Order: sequence, then C-alpha cells, then structure tokens
Amino acid sequence: MTTAQVTSVVGARPQFVKLAPMARALDRASVRHEIIHTGQHYDDRMSASFFRDLGIAEPSKNLAIGSGSHGAQTGQMLAALDAEFSHNPPAAVLVYGDTNTTVAAALAAAKRQISVIHLEAGLRSSDRAMPEEINRILTDHASDLLLAPTKVAMDHLAREGLQARSRLVGDVMVDACFYAKERVEKNGTELPPEIPSGPFVFCTLHRPVNVDEPRRLTHILNALRLIPMPVVIAAHPRLVAAAERTHVVLTSGNDNIRVVPPLTYLQTVSLLLRAVGIVTDSGGLQKEAFLLGSPCTTVRNTTEWPETLEGGWNVLNNECINLDQDAVRPSPSPVSANPYGQGDAADQAVSAMMQSGLLND
Ligand code: UD1
Repeated sequence: MTTAQVTSVVGARPQFVKLAPMARALDRASVRHEIIHTGQHYDDRMSASFFRDLGIAEPSKNLAIGSGSHGAQTGQMLAALDAEFSHNPPAAVLVYGDTNTTVAAALAAAKRQISVIHLEAGLRSSDRAMPEEINRILTDHASDLLLAPTKVAMDHLAREGLQARSRLVGDVMVDACFYAKERVEKNGTELPPEIPSGPFVFCTLHRPVNVDEPRRLTHILNALRLIPMPVVIAAHPRLVAAAERTHVVLTSGNDNIRVVPPLTYLQTVSLLLRAVGIVTDSGGLQKEAFLLGSPCTTVRNTTEWPETLEGGWNVLNNECINLDQDAVRPSPSPVSANPYGQGDAADQAVSAMMQSGLLND
C-alpha cells in the first residue's frame, strides 16, 4: 500500500515536542511527511532550539504569522494555510494539541475537504474561559480521526458523539520525555549559570489568567517567595511582557526567585529530574513531572491530566494557600499504573492513521 502525503502543522512550543516522535514514527512507516510552521512562536528559545534539540527536520514552510490578538492570529493562520493547501494539498493534515495553530490548521484543511487528524484529542478542562478549551472542542469536531492519549479523553469524545472516529493510542509526550531523559542522562546538558547547585523548586507560569492581571501575578509571586529554598522561574515571553506592562517586579534580586530565559527541552527535562518540586500552570509540565517522578503543584483549579493527581503526585492549588508547603512536599509513593501508555504512542498513532484509510492514494 502506498501512502499519500501527511502535512504536520505546528507553531507553538508544546507542538514541537509532540512532533518529534511523530516525525520519527512516520519516517519508520515510510509515510511522506511535510512540516509547516505557522510562526506562532518565533524566538529561538521558543522554537528553533526545539527543532535542533529534538532532531526535527526543518519545516518546508514558515508562515511567520507571529503574535497578535487570538482572533487576528488565528485568522491570519487560517488564510495563510488555506493558500498553502490550495497549492499543495496533502491527503491529510496532522494537528497537535490545543493552540491557535491547531484550530486554524484544522479549519483550513476541513474547508478544503482535506482529512484532519488530531493528535491529543479529547482533552477537556471544562473551563470555557481558557482559549485552549475552545480550540480543543472545535478541533475535535472538525477532525476525521481523533487520536486520544488516555481513557478519560476517549470518554470525553464518546460523550460528545465522536466515538466512531476516535482511537486510543497513548501519549506521545511519554515517547518524547523518555527520549530526552535518556539523552540528558547520557550526555548531560548545559544549564544557565543561575541554576543553584543545591535544592530548588522549578516554576513556569504563562496562562493569561495567571500572568496578565497584576494582582493575580503578585499574589502568586508572594506565595513563591515563602518557599524555603530558591525558586527558578523559566520565564515565558508572555510572563515577561505582562510583568513589564503592569510594573510587577518578578524578583527584587534579594529574594529567593531566580528568573531565567525559556529553556530548551533537554534543559527542562534536566531541571525536572533535579528539582525538589515543580510549580506550574502548564499542562505539559504537569505530565512530564509525573513521568519523571517530581511532585508537582499546579496553579489552576482544573487539569486536563487528572491521572497525574493520583497518589498526590500533582496537586491543584489555584488559591496558592500553603503553596510553600506543597511545593517542597516529599515524593509520594510511586503509582504502578501507566495511564499514558508505554512510550510507543507515536507508532500506535501512525498505525491508526494507516488503518483509517485516510492515507491511501
Ligand atoms: C501558547 C498556547 C498555549 C501553550 C503555550 C506554550 C494558544 C491559545 N496558547 O500560549 O496553549 O501552552 O503557547 O508556550 O495558542 N511571544 C514572544 N516570542 C515567542 C512567542 C510568544 O515574545 O516566540 C510573546 C508575544 O508577546 C505573544 C505572547 O508571548 O503575544 C503570547 O504568545 P502566544 O503564542 O500568543 O500564546 P502563548 O501564551 O505562548
């Protein structure tokens, strides 16, 4: 059986991480694969460093859309992808996760009657104020094949009437995370000089609801300052820009907070392995902490990854009450179940794609 071309559309940091194992698995299965980058993330540390670190081929096209309001950014991507797909229509477009890039690519393909395959389908936070929640729902309903990472995600899809198009393949972030862990353990990785040699807590914050409003951001920072050890914040550009705009000081220089620029994927995995605990509002980091055995505290009141809450490996603390204690709590007992699969999700995803018939010439 020959396979027609699959085009992956990516644009934001978490998508590059998921693309890496998928590109390798598509290659192993001899599927023709092309990558389009929307340019949603464009700083070297947010984009190119991931392609280098994870050995991903250069995108055949970068649409260089860049930043903007969510609607404007999504609309520009939709128009640019529509033009791309009209010149070079693949058999299927593969979209990842829940960003503005995801929904724009799904819509652009669906409107050209090109099959849409959604990797990491079926996640829900039930919080419609999150831009990602709207992106997830719209993308799932526009897709022809829904590749779900967990049983919980499959249940969400069934509840929305999408069961017939859904397949449980496991989570490609397990593949990516273990690949990076092996590389870090074998070769080490250079870290920024601000990383303490002793115990520390590793923190990331980037959700608009946590960083855009100065009172909320100050509340979180004050809770971080009570943690009895250094807190390394790997600062997403949105956090830095929001703090500057609202005149919130991230660190006085005399407190326990150390701000470092965004890290590469290998550096992130290295810090996850070394940190006493993680404080984050990122979905990906919650799961990577779970996989690498680092207790995580999530500054949100919902999670798309409820499996991480099992045994207390992840706790939700949106109010930041006693965050200083949560952040440095000892590791709970290991959980035996592996809710995210065995690390072969990318191969499972490619098998599901081949079996779907969407890639037949
Ligand atoms: C996006 C995703 C979010 C994901 C996150 C990971 C959406 C709706 N959100 O959020 O789900 O968890 O990526 O990082 O798609 N900026 C730069 N340089 C860059 C990229 C961004 O300076 O390379 C700044 C810009 O000021 C921009 C802001 O960061 O306005 C936000 O970037 P954007 O991609 O719109 O959303 P994220 O907050 O990164």
